[in-house]
Amino acid sequence: MKAVRRLFARLPIARSSRAYAFGLQHLHVPPEAWVLDIGAGQGYGSAYLSRVLPQATVVGLDIAFECLRPERLSPGPRPPHFVQGDARALPFRAEAFDLVTLVMTFHCLPQPRQVLSEAYRVLRPGGALLLADVDGRHWMRRPFEWVERAFISPHTRVYPPETWRAWARDAGFARVAFYKRPSRRGGFLLWMVAHKAEAPEPGSPEAQPERAKALRSA
Ligand SMILES: C[S@@+](CC[C@H](N)C(=O)[O-])C[C@H]1O[C@@H](n2cnc3c(N)ncnc32)[C@H](O)[C@@H]1O
Repeated sequence: MKAVRRLFARLPIARSSRAYAFGLQHLHVPPEAWVLDIGAGQGYGSAYLSRVLPQATVVGLDIAFECLRPERLSPGPRPPHFVQGDARALPFRAEAFDLVTLVMTFHCLPQPRQVLSEAYRVLRPGGALLLADVDGRHWMRRPFEWVERAFISPHTRVYPPETWRAWARDAGFARVAFYKRPSRRGGFLLWMVAHKAEAPEPGSPEAQPERAKALRSA
């Protein structure tokens, strides 16, 4: 199984820099952002992020780095930091990151809702989540699940966009938007960008729950 995973990881299809690139077109990322790439895998995506965001601090997290070869990566001037850890209990303090990416990782997670809650916790107010994965409405979803379950992970499950949206909202996210690449056959991948609401201005009604409640009921 491990050998098959390694072989699969070498295929060009397993390198999803283009999925990161398309997602970043729909986001504003501050130049000196802290970026957490959950499910960094071989590290190509994290290296890509460090190239296109050269002043950013990029952290690539994975539960097992069995396919990571840092010497094969072409990182930016500030290479990513790779941290082994479980996305269901992220080893970072709250509000540490400006951007969290989950690229081709959501379908492998045993508890995806817990991971969304953790992503929300570690994002600063105003920060963004970028999720890119197989679109659960695509006809290839089933064959993809069969192959992945047989060779990569028994947890593999592909979800439709309504599920992404409902779980993101349950985790606390707002401003949830979906994007597809233009494609005649419907496109295999789907991108979602969701934000953690900005902290209210000190002194504003939103910052004073009692006042906000009084205003709402007036
Ligand atoms: C298909 S790879 C994605 C690689 C990378 N994001 C890319 O697009 O090139 C999915 C990764 O998610 C990782 N993963 C699965 N469950 C995880 C968990 N609970 N915590 C952290 N990483 C996890 C796997 O080990 C695997 O490396």
